[in-house]
Order: sequence, then structure tokens, then C-alpha cells
Amino acid sequence: MKKVILAAAVSAVFAVSAVAAENADVVVVGAGGAGLSAAVTAHDLGKKVIVLEKMAFVGGNTNRAAGGLNAAETKPQEKAGIKDSIETHFNDTMKGGKYLNNPDLVHVLTDNARYSVDFINSLKEGDLTDVGMLAGATNKRAHRPAGGGFVGANVVKALATVAKDKGIDVRTNAKVEKLIVKNGKVVGLQYKGKNGVKTINAKAVVIAAGGFGANQDLLTKINPKLKGFGTTNHPGATGDGITLGEKVGADTVDMSQIQTHPTVVPNNGEMITEAVRGNGAILVNQDGKRFINELQTRDVVSAAELKQPGKVGYLVFDTATRKSLKAIETYIKKGLVTEGATLDELADKLKINAANLKATMEQYAKFQADKKDAEFGRADMPRPLTEGPWFAVQVTPAVHHTMGGLIINTEAQVLDKKGNVIPGLFAAGEVTGGVHGANRLGGNAMADIVTFGRIAGRNAAEQPTGVIVPRGQKPEDAEKAAVEGK
Ligand code: FAD
Ligand code: FUM
Repeated sequence: MKKVILAAAVSAVFAVSAVAAENADVVVVGAGGAGLSAAVTAHDLGKKVIVLEKMAFVGGNTNRAAGGLNAAETKPQEKAGIKDSIETHFNDTMKGGKYLNNPDLVHVLTDNARYSVDFINSLKEGDLTDVGMLAGATNKRAHRPAGGGFVGANVVKALATVAKDKGIDVRTNAKVEKLIVKNGKVVGLQYKGKNGVKTINAKAVVIAAGGFGANQDLLTKINPKLKGFGTTNHPGATGDGITLGEKVGADTVDMSQIQTHPTVVPNNGEMITEAVRGNGAILVNQDGKRFINELQTRDVVSAAELKQPGKVGYLVFDTATRKSLKAIETYIKKGLVTEGATLDELADKLKINAANLKATMEQYAKFQADKKDAEFGRADMPRPLTEGPWFAVQVTPAVHHTMGGLIINTEAQVLDKKGNVIPGLFAAGEVTGGVHGANRLGGNAMADIVTFGRIAGRNAAEQPTGVIVPRGQKPEDAEKAAVEGK
């Protein structure tokens, strides 16, 4: 009798899981820019794709991206008469990352970013037609919507619209909790949705769950000096994808490389895009004096700002700069910007030294006219900042980007601790490490997520076991070798 009850119970369990489990070719974890790029690409290759997003809406940190998507030798650059090269983009990225980056991944990024611009611009809502300057770049290569609008909102809208139009199955409020492994291969996952825990069997899984810039515990465990820092990140940036990968044997790299962004409104988390500096703004301190080349990399500008009185700076710009960048109107509407009809009025409102501020602005206009910043060596000074009214925002550094994460190869396959491919598992975007080294350049994450997102989507669709088959080798041999760790 006992046996029968047990058998019935066992078969009931199997019946439930058999009924509950769904099948897909490719399942994507996370509906940010990397996940949606992967999903659209895999779908276009004829695969059944399911995207799972833990938050109530899609977009993740990508929704918040502001300044642009970096790419060289693009059509919009050519149209604007901007001279740039893939090689310079590569060199800037390596230098910005203090040469900690994996150069193979950086080559993939800089060689292919131009096609990511084409891809987004080919979508109904895509608009990466304006090109501007961001910090650490030799040339203007940050692609963004016409007039200098926010890049992330446009990219998410474009990708989410095409996903909807193509009927891709995107599920929100669906938190992935576990990857399923059989015989060394990732063969599916479990997620918690509105109606409980569900299983999906898949030929390949793409982890695109973003970074951990909103995980205070992990950030301060890795770097206790970050205690008390704000974050620019959305609340879902908790590093789940890294944990999911680690639990199935994935290795990580550069986890201690955490970036702060120097122009964030104190106690608010609202980031003022680097493009405001790229289009002309300078930074002054409470004494009304400049303290750094404003277009230095974020680590350098953040460190300089933390040495100023009150650990804050003031981003100062004029009406010509305001007119050059749509994004500024949003900051004004949100009440983040102080306005002064004169520099005296601005200084008075901010309680900064007026005489020094006026002297600083006068000297900067002269540097700009001479095309030589004799004080801090800023190379790009597009505007003299002489057209009133003037504007300012008080800013301080906040956690912005986590450069470390899952180790991938150039095919977006996740590697284990021995450097072997984990069959069936791909990753793209901020969840991965190695692309940006010790310090990401502004605009390179957007390039990363669309480029590697598409590579992950393509390979997950075409190589569902996760094994890239070398030319001349049989798929089953390549797969066997990968599972055996050869
Ligand atoms: P995300 O866009 O964060 O997407 C990951 C998604 O996965 C999220 O929606 C998350 O909720 C979901 N997720 C997480 N865990 C789970 C789980 N367990 N199950 C299911 N779903 C899960 N970069 C640039 O290059 N240019 C810029 O101008 C720029 N501006 C920025 C401005 C701000 C304010 C911020 C915060 C970042 C900016 N960045 C910029 C960086 C860039 O936006 C991010 O690095 C990039 O968007 C990350 O994309 P992603 O697809 O990897 O992750
Ligand atoms: O300042 C910014 O617009 C942010 C850019 C980035 O993080 O790449």
C-alpha cells in the first residue's frame, strides 16, 4: 500500500512538473538593452524566444542611459564630417580601462559598434543620428537621438517596440532564480512569476541581467570605501545574473572594479549626463575655481571632486550649451538646475565666491578662444560659455557602473573556472566583465550591450548547445570536447 501511495505521489510530482514545464529554443534573463538585443536577434533567426524580466517593466539601467552609444567609422559621423577610426576607439577604450580590459573583447566591441548603430537606426523607433563628445574620447563618437536627447530611452523604446511587433514573448515580474544543468550543459531555468515557480526547458540561456550598482551590501563588501555613496542605478541592478552563473560554475573577473560618476545630484541619484560637459560645461568648486580637466575619465574627475570643499562641484554652463542639448531641458523641468541672469546672481544663489567665478569664466573664455587650456589641458572646448543666462547644478560622485562580472569569450559564451565554455550558456552586457577593464568610458556600455547582446542572441540561436563548432569539426565532437573540458 505504502509503495502505491509513494508511486502515486512521485508520478503526481512528475505530472505537475511535466505539465508546468515549457519549451523554448532560447531563454533570455533580463529585458534591458543586452537582453532585448539578444532576443530580437535570436527571434530573427527563426527561434522560439522567451524573455524574463524581474521588474514590472522592461529596460533596466538601459532606460536611464543618457549621453550616448560609442562607435567609430559610422554613417552619422560621416554625415557630420567627424573624422574618427576604430583603432582610435580601441586605443581610447584600453587607455580608459587602464589596460586591464581583455583586448580581444575590446576589438569585438570597437569593430562591431558601428553595426550596432546601423541596427538601432534600422528599427522603427531607433534614432542614433546625433553625435557628441564624452569624456576619455579622442573624437566625437557618442551616438544619441537628434538634438542630443537621452540615448537609453530611445534604444529601449526601439527594441521593445520591435519585440512587441514581432510577437516575442517578454514576461515581466518574472524573476529567474535558478539555471538547470544536465550533463554539464545548461538546459533551462526556473523563474518565479505571478503564479508561482515555473520551469522552462531551453536549448540555450542568455544571461543579460545587468550589473550590481544598486546592491549596497555587495558594493561595500567589495569596497568598504563606497559606504554612504549614492547610486545612479535602477533598483533591480543587484547582480543576480552573476550569482546565477556562479552557481553553475561560471568564473568572474574584475569584480572590484566599480565606477563612480562625478556629476550626480547629491542625495538624489539623478545623474547629469557627461554630454553637458561634452557640449561645453565646466566644473568649479565652492570657491568658484575650476579644479580639473572636465573631460578626464570618471575616476579622475570623481577623485578630484572628492577633494573639494564639501566633496561637491558645480557644473556651470551657459545658454548656448543649453540650446545644444535637449537633455538639459529635462533637468531644468525637474528643478535640478539653478539659473542666474548674471554670474553674480548665479553665484549668490549657489553661495559660491562670485569674484572668483567671474574670473574663472573670463579666463576659460580666453582659453577657449586661444584653443589652449593653459590650466588643465582640456582639449575640447566647444563653447566660450559667454551667453547668459547662466546655469549650474551641484554635483558629487555616486556609484555608476560595475565593470566586473561573468567571464565570456568573443562569442559571448560563459567560461568556467578552467577557462572552458559552459555549454548552453551565453551572457552579454553589464553582467559580464573584461570589456571595460578598470574604468568604463562614457558611451561604451551602450555599445557593449547592443553589440554583445546581438552576438549572444545569434550564437544562442545558431549554436544551441553553446559550443561554437570549429570549421571542419563535427558538432557532436566539439560538444563532447566542451563538456569534457578539453
Ligand atoms: P540592464 O539594462 O540593467 O538590464 C538588465 C535587466 O535584467 C534589468 O531590467 C533587470 O531588472 C533584469 N534582471 C536582473 N536580475 C534578474 C533576474 N533574476 N531575473 C529576471 N530579470 C532580471 N552607458 C552608455 O554607454 N552610455 C550612456 O549614456 C549611459 N548612461 C547611463 C546613465 C545612467 C543613469 C546609468 C545608470 C547607466 C548609464 N550607462 C550608460 C550604463 C548603461 O546604461 C548600462 O551599463 C547598460 O544599460 C546595461 O545594460 P544591460 O542590458 O546589461 O542591463
Ligand atoms: O554621463 C552619461 O551620460 C553617462 C554615460 C555612460 O555611463 O556611459
